[in-house]
Amino acid sequence: RRVVALVPAAGRGVRLGEATPKAFVPVGGSPMLVRAIDGLIASGVVDRIVIMAPIELLDDARKLLAARAHAASSIPVDVVPGGAERTDSVRAGLAAASDATHILVHDAARALTPPALIARVVAELAAGHRAVVPGLPVADTIKSVSADGAVTGTPERAALRAIQTPQGFDAELLRTAYAAELSATDDAGLVEACGATVRVIAGDALAFKITGPLDLRLAEALLSGADH
Ligand code: C5P
Repeated sequence: RRVVALVPAAGRGVRLGEATPKAFVPVGGSPMLVRAIDGLIASGVVDRIVIMAPIELLDDARKLLAARAHAASSIPVDVVPGGAERTDSVRAGLAAASDATHILVHDAARALTPPALIARVVAELAAGHRAVVPGLPVADTIKSVSADGAVTGTPERAALRAIQTPQGFDAELLRTAYAAELSATDDAGLVEACGATVRVIAGDALAFKITGPLDLRLAEALLSGADH
């Protein structure tokens, strides 16, 4: 088994309201990207990492990684240019991961993801599941809404999950899903569109995506605690 983690880090982070692309914004003194990478390495289940960064920040990304403590002794980390949409970035990462038997896709923005969650996803892949995603029950009631603001449906909340990353896949399955040239906000969505079964395991609240200013403050508060 060879597990390659693809880390989409090429988003602009418009919702965060910072001048820097999101993955390069520091949280608790380290860029989100560096925290995400360190979590993947600490999981002990990843053989190689490919980061998809904004094209103008490729050198910055490489410098950040080289400057990390233990950089020399850890697993190989490559940086490639991302694309306009997240799907384009993951596609670029897939092209650079031809050696993978299994692929994790893990957002740089989920900077506080516990290594144990990453290990659980890979354990499910090792057990033979071809697509595995972490998910949490949702606190809010979710409604679908039409463009003019009318509610079109209210799915039963107990059956809903908010899906996180890392999402784990058999490499061949994910490549097939991407070959269909569709678009989706997560990778499992493309795999579902191919008719494959996606398994959901328990996520972790700490794997939340740092999206808006409130998320950034939450991350800072969590990292200012004595245990980080
Ligand atoms: O925009 P969103 O919050 O869904 O982004 C999730 C992750 O995908 C982030 O880590 C972001 O950097 C990455 N991304 C990317 N390329 C894009 C857009 C988003 O790598 N074009």
